[in-house]
Formats: sequence, structure tokens, C-alpha cells
Amino acid sequence: MKLEKLDWFWCKETESTNLSAKKAGEYEDEKSIARGMLFVADKQTAGVGRRGRIWESPEGENVYMSLLFKPEIEPEKAPMLTLVMAAAVAKGLKRVCEKALIQIKWPNDIILNKKKVCGILTEMVLDGSAIKYVVIGVGINVNQKRFSQELEDKATSLALELSREFDRKSIISSVLEEFYKYYDGFLCTGDLSYLQETYNQMLVNRDEQVVIHEPGNEYKAVAIGINEQGELVVELPDGTRQNIYAGEVSVRGVYGYL
Ligand code: BTN
Repeated sequence: MKLEKLDWFWCKETESTNLSAKKAGEYEDEKSIARGMLFVADKQTAGVGRRGRIWESPEGENVYMSLLFKPEIEPEKAPMLTLVMAAAVAKGLKRVCEKALIQIKWPNDIILNKKKVCGILTEMVLDGSAIKYVVIGVGINVNQKRFSQELEDKATSLALELSREFDRKSIISSVLEEFYKYYDGFLCTGDLSYLQETYNQMLVNRDEQVVIHEPGNEYKAVAIGINEQGELVVELPDGTRQNIYAGEVSVRGVYGYL
């Protein structure tokens, strides 16, 4: 089913929009979930990031939103949806920020002028071996002017980089419009071939040295781009190529986060 008709739900404050979406995934009827539901909050009291981290969510400044839907795909393909959303956010932000340097740090951080401006957290719930629903949570730093000491070196916002305030609703609409397009492409092909080139053009560190951190192992390679499955293709010093699956792996620049 097309997502263009999804219902939006706004609230002043919630623990986490991902949590609101997951609760709705449990009690809402199948038709509403199939049509898609978008949960947006002005503030989160317990925003969640990847790997159980906290996502700073001050009131009235940023976009905190979670999309609940039921894609008719095999569960193994669900991680690709994170990259679909990453491409959509990057393109959506490019539209509202005109000339700003917006890039993607594989698999799903959006980077503005070399600092993180958006994070994406995808969660999936199964019904037996089929997808019951998927939640894609998106946090975009829009008008936030100050970050905690811990984040100030690596996080930024649209307002900080572009010296003006942005309308959050226009940003959400712009991101969703791009998402519908890339999601349709993904459903048609069953992989990321529709957006692969677009994604790779925005890939930070493309054709540059990166450090791959696996549990108990780290090594250097050159980042080539994503393949149709969303894995990062890297070239090792001996010239062989390897596909990296997101999971437990993180990829950083030689000198730090980027
Ligand atoms: C990351 O660690 O990069 C992912 C951050 C995801 C944050 C968003 S904000 C909206 C949604 N609700 C949450 O609690 N998390 C996601």
C-alpha cells in the first residue's frame, strides 16, 4: 500500500516517538498500520538513539518523528529501510537548505558541514516469521543552538550552520515526500538499486580511507560505496573488495568520527 495517505499524530511531549509508534503498532487496527502513521513530538523525555544511547530532545527546537507502517517485504530486507530513510532525509534537507553540504555517513547518520545533524533508529516487530510492523524514528537537529559538552564537537543543527531558523513542518513534509519516492523504488526493485547512485553521491568519505571497527578487530580500507543490498563496499590494501554489513560494525574516518 502507498504511504502517501498516512495519518499524522502530534503531541507536546512524549517519552519517545518510537515508543508511541510501537504502542500503536500493538493496538491499532491493521488498516491504519498499513496506511501508515506518523508520530511527531515537540519534546521527548526519553529519546533513544542507536546502541541504547540517549537522544537529546529539547522542547520546541527539533524534529522528533517516527513512522509506523507495515512493508510487504521479507524481514531480512528491513535494515535497508534505514538507508531508504537516510537518502530521503539527506535529499529532503538539501531541498530546504539549498547550498548546504549535506552528506550521509553510512549507514544512516546525516552530516551537515562535517557534523551530525540527524540520526535514524529503525525497529522491527515480527509476527512469527513475517513483519508485523516497522518503526523508523528520525531525529533532526533543526533550531537547537546549544549541545551538551559531550556532543558539541560532533553534533550540529540547521540553524547553527545556516544562521537562520527553519520551519519544522516544512522539513517533515520535504523528508516524507522524498521517502515516498525512494520507498516506492525500493518496493519495485526489492533492493536499493533505485537510490544507490544518489546515496553514493552523498556518501561522506567516499573513495577515502576509513577505519572499520568490528568487535575485537579494526582495519583500514577505502570506502567505495553501497551495493544494492545497502552493504558498504570497501577496498582493502591488497586491492580485494569486501562488503560490510552494518550490524555490529562501525566505520569512521582515519582521524575520528568522520
Ligand atoms: C541515532 O542514534 O543516531 C539514532 C537517533 C534517533 C532519534 C530519533 S528522535 C525520534 C525517534 N524517537 C526516539 O526515541 N528516537 C528516534
